[in-house]
Amino acid sequence: MRVIGIESSCDETAVAVYDADRGLLSHRLHSQVAMHQAYGGIVPELASRDHVRRLLPLVREALADAASGRESIDGVAYTAGPGLIGALLVGAGFARSLAYAWDRPAVGVHHLEGHLLAPLLEANPPAFPFLALLVSGGHTQLVDVAGLGRYRILGESLDDAAGEAFDKTAKLLGLPYPGGAALAQLAERGRGAQFAFPRPMLDRPGLEFSFSGLKTAALVALRGRVLDDQTRADVACAFQEAVVATLVEKSRRALLLTGHRRLVVAGGVGANLALRERLRALGRDSGAELYFPRPEFCTDNGAMIALAGCMRLQAGMPYASAVSARASWELGNDATTGV
Ligand code: KG4
Ligand code: ZN
Repeated sequence: MRVIGIESSCDETAVAVYDADRGLLSHRLHSQVAMHQAYGGIVPELASRDHVRRLLPLVREALADAASGRESIDGVAYTAGPGLIGALLVGAGFARSLAYAWDRPAVGVHHLEGHLLAPLLEANPPAFPFLALLVSGGHTQLVDVAGLGRYRILGESLDDAAGEAFDKTAKLLGLPYPGGAALAQLAERGRGAQFAFPRPMLDRPGLEFSFSGLKTAALVALRGRVLDDQTRADVACAFQEAVVATLVEKSRRALLLTGHRRLVVAGGVGANLALRERLRALGRDSGAELYFPRPEFCTDNGAMIALAGCMRLQAGMPYASAVSARASWELGNDATTGV
């Protein structure tokens, strides 16, 4: 079974070829970050148009890299949601057309299913069942993963996602969009004890998150101060520490609650080194095995979509025959895209 995967839910156009026996054969990605940076955020219409421009060349390149003719492709997987509706429609329409021309099935994949399966692209992949901590620009969720397509959300953010909080705070610190990785770099030079940020939701039971208050805490900390490099680094450090402490503590509670022995971390914020280090310590303390995708597969990519589509086709799971695109779509047991 060999599947080509297409990701276009946001500001990355990505294509990959995954083979059930041989693993990942190729992956290509074009990031639109430079194009959106001038606007300080993503402009949806520009994103859609750029996906139109990039998809076909990327498919050609991914097939060439994989030394794979189109006749050896058994299916076309694409991100069906959630995401920007225009961007999703470009990818879905394109993937459906390709599948139609090649007389192959087109399988819509839930973007977050792609993220939480991404560690299966690595050597020593996790077995089902596991607990997943999904931390991206749009979502922060703890998910009980019983098996492929069998997901139960245990807790999620009531307001901003962790990545969104990183990006907004980075903006306050004068860093270009998207500032998550740059904020993390700045935090390395920060002194830990200079600012005390709140630890949102830790005083309450449960697995919900809230990150919007941290942005306000950063604003208050910066008010009336000279914005020198050290102050900015100190604020970045305090902010990151508060986010990481919250994510780690809620993950600890979720492991206890579910009894899972495996913790998968996925999504863009999963690339954060401070978070990885603290989660590894949690793994050692709690006896849980930790699984991370490599940093480039934490953020949006086509490999995770090709993998998820391949697993779905192999398992004989149903898929919609129409073009399927949903801007908002909760991850659940119905992750069968439009069926
Ligand atoms: O998963 P992703 O690529 O896109 C969504 O599906 O949302 O995640 C992007 C998010 C952005 O908010 C970005 O700032 C954040 O992940 N991010 C990071 C790091 N690298 C990316 N946040 C903190 N530390 C990082 N090293
Ligand atoms: Zn994503």
